[in-house]
Amino acid sequence: MSVERTLAIIKPDAVAAGAAGKILTRVEQAGFKILALKMIRMSFDDAAGFYAVHSARPFFKSLCTFMTQGPCIPMVLEGGNAIARWRDLMGATDPAKAAAGTIRKDFAASIEANAVHGSDATTTAAFEIAYFFSARELQ
Ligand code: CMP
Repeated sequence: MSVERTLAIIKPDAVAAGAAGKILTRVEQAGFKILALKMIRMSFDDAAGFYAVHSARPFFKSLCTFMTQGPCIPMVLEGGNAIARWRDLMGATDPAKAAAGTIRKDFAASIEANAVHGSDATTTAAFEIAYFFSARELQ
């Protein structure tokens, strides 16, 4: 099992709902090391740059607006197979399809306001971690 890093975000809907602490408890109980964490409020351009890979999708503008509606909590999680394990813990993108016991099943309201984000591969994790954290913040 290779040690990986992944970029997770507790999204504005979950922060506004007061679910950040409960989600962080699940992160810790699953054994991830929280390598770095901050609370920020993204601008539209911040969100558009982060989600640039989705820029041609019909939901892109709405997604970027949603991500600016309040503070969010990006963090870097480290652990064995962290990318896949965090995605498993999050559950399916659409909470209606998410398995019981997953974060999105328990905290997400819709496919857009889906509580959390996680990188989907090692290359995207590297881009997404560097988007929010400098090397100095990852020691
Ligand atoms: P995330 O895992 O952060 O990656 C891209 C985001 O786009 C996704 O979570 C959702 O918030 C959003 N998204 C994906 N599919 C749709 C959709 N069909 N309609 C609206 N938003 C979507």
